[in-house]
Amino acid sequence: DFQQRREQLRINKLAARFYHNILLNTREGRRGLEYLTKRGIKPETIERFQLGYALPAWDGLIKYFGSQGIDIKDLQKVGLVIPRKDNRGYYDRFRDRIMFPIEDVTKNIIGFGGRIVGVGEPKYLNSPETPVFSKGENLYALSMIKKDPELDAIVVEGYMDCISLQQNGFTQAVASLGTALTQKQARLLKKYTNGVILAYDADSAGQTATLRGMEILAKEGLNVKVLSLPAGKDPDEFIRRKGRDAFREQLTGALDLVSYKLNLAKKGLDIQNSDGKLRFIKRAVEVLSEIENEVEKEIYVQKTATELNIPVQVLKDEIKKRQFPNN
Ligand code: UTP
Ligand code: MN
Ligand code: MN
Ligand code: MN
Ligand code: MN
Repeated sequence: DFQQRREQLRINKLAARFYHNILLNTREGRRGLEYLTKRGIKPETIERFQLGYALPAWDGLIKYFGSQGIDIKDLQKVGLVIPRKDNRGYYDRFRDRIMFPIEDVTKNIIGFGGRIVGVGEPKYLNSPETPVFSKGENLYALSMIKKDPELDAIVVEGYMDCISLQQNGFTQAVASLGTALTQKQARLLKKYTNGVILAYDADSAGQTATLRGMEILAKEGLNVKVLSLPAGKDPDEFIRRKGRDAFREQLTGALDLVSYKLNLAKKGLDIQNSDGKLRFIKRAVEVLSEIENEVEKEIYVQKTATELNIPVQVLKDEIKKRQFPNN
């Protein structure tokens, strides 16, 4: 209920402050600070995102909250502590991790993400689903972007991608907290803007998530584009290696849904030789026949025909054959 929710949000806020203070003002926190510095994160950015560090200890947070007179059951409810298997006591969920407080659109801290500093699994650990936190219903940093239909939001996979872009002046960056964008997240985004640029990791997981994400965003009436990075890269790595101007160029060159699919269809084929050309036509026809808007379809058919140096009518006939296979 309302009282419980308020208490849980209060606890999250205190915890964020606790982790943030350890990162900045303690000797043990240096380990986290060094890690962030090594990754190019500036002090202003640490402030802006209220980043923190959870000590390697099993009871750092528990001890702190014990001294604050907070009920450990409430800590469990927000997922900050976990009961021991033998039911004798609790331990901290987040240990030896860089802490990313997650806000909702009203700037309440609803949960955390934590990245391991040393080696260990999982690389990222998130708060579990709690009465105040639902992963699929929020986007990281959404509370920080401008509400403006004309300003495209940039949706990335990771906390570090989002922070890195923001630090480089791309202040419309948000993260979908993992790869699977949900309809609820799309609906939230629609309240902020009319356009989204998807900038997921350039690996196969990211590619699959991109195709799915585009459909979900388009269904909410958002104008969607995709940015494609060199193989294996994510926005954070890209911008650190190539700089912000290079990233801006990528944004400018972001592809709409159809162009993105046509591009994928071309991958690994040499359309200069006839075998590659034929195979591309087959795949392209699949993409083109799915376009519902006739004007849009016409445009892409023309474009593809020109690119392949074949008569438009040939491509149109192939599309018709696919749509009405019995004729
Ligand atoms: P990535 O594996 O691409 O991590 O996961 P990353 O953001 O590039 O991390 P760095 O650069 O190595 O620090 C992308 C996002 O997927 C979620 C996190 O939100 C992460 O930022 N994720 C990933 C998890 O929730 N758990 C994991 O174990 C891994
Ligand atoms: Mn501070
Ligand atoms: Mn990835
Ligand atoms: Mn990364
Ligand atoms: Mn990544």
